[in-house]
Amino acid sequence: MSLPDFTTSIINYLEEKGGKKLEAAVILGSGLGSFADAIQRPNKIPYSDIPGMPHSSVEGHAGELIFGEINGKQMIAFSGRFHHYEGFSFEETATPVYIADALGAKKLIISNAAGAINTSFSVGDLMVIEGVIRNNLSISPRGYSKHRYLHHQWVDKVRSLAADLKLVTQQGTYMYVTGPNYETKAEIRSFRKMGADAVGMSTAPELFEAARLELKSVAISLISNMASGVTKGKLDHNEVNAAADSRKEDFAKLVSKLIEEF
Ligand code: HPA
Repeated sequence: MSLPDFTTSIINYLEEKGGKKLEAAVILGSGLGSFADAIQRPNKIPYSDIPGMPHSSVEGHAGELIFGEINGKQMIAFSGRFHHYEGFSFEETATPVYIADALGAKKLIISNAAGAINTSFSVGDLMVIEGVIRNNLSISPRGYSKHRYLHHQWVDKVRSLAADLKLVTQQGTYMYVTGPNYETKAEIRSFRKMGADAVGMSTAPELFEAARLELKSVAISLISNMASGVTKGKLDHNEVNAAADSRKEDFAKLVSKLIEEF
């Protein structure tokens, strides 16, 4: 299956670095970078060292990838991703997916921070994504693939693996928006009527490209805030960060389990 031309130099470089025969790949969302601490025998490579690799213009988000192991499974983690609102094309936002596929990964675990639209969700919840609404409908430019939802069939499996760890998870539909602005209250009300449970600015291009490449994938949202207008009063960012922080270890446990068993 074809990969975009810009990935050739990236993949050649990473193959030379020994990154072949991977079992799993993980894309780490905002606030979830501490999963990197759980990686054994880590080999960190800054994105800026990799020829052709997009790098984020956002200060403090230079990004790096980490080759390593989780309980004997060879894996790669992407700490820092590429958002369309930063000026990256949809193809560029899916760069980690192309790398994972080219280096032989058999499964991809995608994570993100998202705002809850579903009023029964709480900050700090982990939501396994079962459906995606693309909103602008045009996020995957690599031909007219069938865009099969390969991920929805693994939602029950992921939730039961989480339950084995005594972790409660939600499941729901992710509304993809390009950002960078947060939504208006009216948009959130309309997204709720459309059937969305959470909203965010990433993940959908990655999931659809993974589906096109037939790379087994799952995506998990950490609810970092209630979406615009869902709760009265202003968001208290300290509370939001504290809630997200409180789930970092659970998230790391779940991702490790998925690398081993999903
Ligand atoms: N809206 C869009 N993207 C987000 C949000 C949100 O409320 N929270 C985290 N990413």
